[in-house]
Formats: sequence, C-alpha cells, structure tokens
Amino acid sequence: MAKIYVTRKIPDSGIKLLKKAGHTVRIYAHDKPITRKELLKNVKGVDAILSLLTDRIDAGVVKAAGSQLKIVANYAVGYDNIDVEALKKAGVKVANTPGVLNGAVAEHAIALLMATAKRIPEADAFIRAGKYVGWKPMLLLGTELAGKTLGIIGTGRIGFGVARRAAAMGIKIAYVDVRKNLKLEKEFGAKKMSLDRLLKTSDFVSLHVPLLPSTRHLIGAKQLRMMKKTAILINTSRGPVIDEVALVRSLKSARIAAAGLDVFEHEPKLAPGLKKLKNVVLTPHTASATVETRQAMSELAGHAIIDVLKGKIPKNLV
Ligand code: DGY
Repeated sequence: MAKIYVTRKIPDSGIKLLKKAGHTVRIYAHDKPITRKELLKNVKGVDAILSLLTDRIDAGVVKAAGSQLKIVANYAVGYDNIDVEALKKAGVKVANTPGVLNGAVAEHAIALLMATAKRIPEADAFIRAGKYVGWKPMLLLGTELAGKTLGIIGTGRIGFGVARRAAAMGIKIAYVDVRKNLKLEKEFGAKKMSLDRLLKTSDFVSLHVPLLPSTRHLIGAKQLRMMKKTAILINTSRGPVIDEVALVRSLKSARIAAAGLDVFEHEPKLAPGLKKLKNVVLTPHTASATVETRQAMSELAGHAIIDVLKGKIPKNLV
C-alpha cells in the first residue's frame, strides 16, 4: 500500500480509483493553493504526488518527499509548473492529463471568440444597468464570424478542435506550427503560414501553444502592431505567451479590437488596467472546467499513479 498526497481537492473519481487500488490518499484540507512551506512538509514520505498547475514542483519538493517518491501526476495538460529535468534526474516520473480536455478547451476558445465578437458581456451589463430603453440600429454592433479568417497558433489536439468548430461556422483557417498539419489542411482547407503573415492577415487569432522559453511573449508589442485593427485575440493556453502589459496598451488605444482571455501572465493577478477595459472578455482559467473533463482529468492522473506504483509506464507519461 502506497502513500499518495493530493495538493488540493479535485473531483473524486480519480481519488476513488486510488483508494480502490489499496493506496492511502491524503488531500490538502483547504480550498486554496497550498503554500510552499505546507507542500514541503506534507509530501514527506509519500510515494506519489497528485499536483496542480498552481504548485511549483522541483528538486526541493523531491528532496522533501524522500527517495521513495516515484511519480508526480499533474492535474493539467500543461506542466510548465514542473521542473521535469530535475525530476527525471531524481528518477521521478511525471504525468499530465492530455486528450481529455481538448473538447472543453476548444469550446471555451470558441465561446470567448463569440462573446467578444458579439459583445455579449457588454450587452448583458447594459441591460442590467437599466440602459435598455428600446431597439436602436447602432446599438452594440459586433462582428460576424462566417467568411472571416481565424489564425490558429499551435495545431495540436486543442488547436485542431478549435479549427473543426470554427470551420463548421464557415470561418476560414490559417495556422502556424512547427510542422505541416496535413489533416488540418485536408479537412478544413487550412493554410500554413509564417507568424507575421498570420498576424497581418487574420481577423481572429487563437493561441494553443505550451509555455516554453520560445513561446514566452510570443505575442508582444511588435506582434500586436502587426495585427488588423479589427482583430480579436483569444488565449486559452498560458498567460505568459502574451505580453499582457503590451496587450492592455493595444486594447486601450484600439490598436486591436478585442481580446478574450482565460489565462493571465501573473495569475491570479491581472495587468493594471485590464479589467477596466470593455473590449476584453475575461474568464478565470476555466477553459477545462466542465464536470465531464475535470472528472476525466482526475481519473487520468489516478491511473498514471496506479500504473507507476505497479511498475508500469503510464500512457500519459511526460
Ligand atoms: C491545463 O490542463 O493545462 C489547463 O490549463 C487547466 O485545466
């Protein structure tokens, strides 16, 4: 029987699997991110950690846990919170939750695109403020989606899912990726291009890249200047992919039309001025927050731990 530490309450489907497999599971008792001090104390002697994207998992955590630690399963597809090299060096396996959140995140990216293009939050606030006194020809004019071009940056499973949904609405697809995505080109007539060209020619741009040194501030002041004045920028990937201060400046000066953001550069803090802007729709990193997806993530993380504790290689090994 192994000891497993879970750094915060998650849907219990994965926890049930771990218990059914005969393991002892301890869960952080508070509904807030665990502090570094508590994390180092609570992982002492455990065989596995089920971590969240808000936890920094590095050599210090491995040392605090002890040499029996075998796996860290991150409750997220992104694992930029984990020093994978340090864990590898210590012989600790790392798993994530790919595959199960593509649909939820792709739907959320489309929801943000629709909400910004159709100005839904502004319209809702307008009515609630008692300002609706009758139909007006020029009231809250938005942007039509059909016939426009969506530039997708990163065409992995989530980017592909966004393309599929957008194409079904009559939106043309352009993309940037390190590799040619033949399936995307064949199914949706997508056109591969350079980042600069995509930024200059797309009506909407949606980001679907992992956070790496090469993608940090991929969209900065220079790139924002290249975009159309009517462009809408959507980010459901990782906050630091955009230079948020530069984005606020661009939105304020109407250099681009709008943005839909689920992730932020210094989460949960927002860049000064961001939440005052009307041309931005904000969600609190909830793109994968559906009951179905969050349970599936819990199960995937649970299975990875069970596999590693049995000496097996999990399918979602990083
Ligand atoms: C992830 O999995 O990386 C998302 O950002 C959170 O669900």
